[in-house]
Amino acid sequence: MISIEDLHKSFNGNAVLKGVSLEIPKGEVIALIGGSRQGKSVLLKHVAGLMKPDKGRVLVNGNDIASSRGKYLNALRAKLGFLFQGGALFDSMTVFENVAFPLKEKTRTAKREIRDRVLKELSNVGLSGSEDKFPSQISGGMVKRAALARALVVDPEIMLFDEPTTGLDPLIGLSILKLIDAIHRELGFTGVIVTHEVPRVFDIVDRVAFLKDGTVSAYDEPEKFMASPKPEVKEFLDGSLGRPDPDGPAIFRPCNVEESK
Ligand SMILES: Nc1ncnc2c1ncn2[C@@H]1O[C@H](COP(=O)(O)OP(=O)(O)O)[C@@H](O)[C@H]1O
Ligand SMILES: [Mg+2]
Repeated sequence: MISIEDLHKSFNGNAVLKGVSLEIPKGEVIALIGGSRQGKSVLLKHVAGLMKPDKGRVLVNGNDIASSRGKYLNALRAKLGFLFQGGALFDSMTVFENVAFPLKEKTRTAKREIRDRVLKELSNVGLSGSEDKFPSQISGGMVKRAALARALVVDPEIMLFDEPTTGLDPLIGLSILKLIDAIHRELGFTGVIVTHEVPRVFDIVDRVAFLKDGTVSAYDEPEKFMASPKPEVKEFLDGSLGRPDPDGPAIFRPCNVEESK
């Protein structure tokens, strides 16, 4: 479904991606993890067609995003939902108007159908009754839910999440991850979640990709990833888990509310 092939990207001589390759099977959701400034957001923007690679390519259903133009590019973009880092809404628009925005901008959906779809999406994310509120009148968790509804309203085949829980209280963050999982089970999109929620995110993804020094240094199912013998993976997990187990390899621990405190 999504095939990333030998992707390279530099900014002013600073090489950020140095040959990233990744295959994401249709319908699967992967976690993209790694330290700060390793190029996670840059990689996501290439998948969305918002950045052009210096070398290599991204194929979606066999189509090269960067070389698509006009209606082909629009068709690729129409299938894609993006929850940006920060996940901001337009402050001057109500929740309803924010969620309706992609349908009004990208499609020729009739007004009445827009209304139906927006209300359905808001119900899906638990925001029924908040449609006339402005972003400043709702909580951070609700803003994220509304941004999620806005990304989902175009019925995307691909969903890209850039740090969907950053800045939220841990329990609210957990509820957002569970919501993403529930919606994925219902809609079956192919997804990438960039996150620091390690190991909590491992419960809801099929695979984990670890980005380091410009390449994917490990790509595996969560349990296998947790047991990876690679020193850089162990080091990252020890840092993320905050409590390395001196008696053996890290074990796969399902997350629960206690751990998040
Ligand atoms: N548009 C841009 N112009 C110049 N440098 C950029 C741009 N976008 C990202 N970078 C640089 O690329 C590196 C990786 O950024 P990013 O992908 O945002 O990291 P992260 O893994 O934290 O998401 C950083 O050093 C950042 O400064
Ligand atoms: Mg980022």
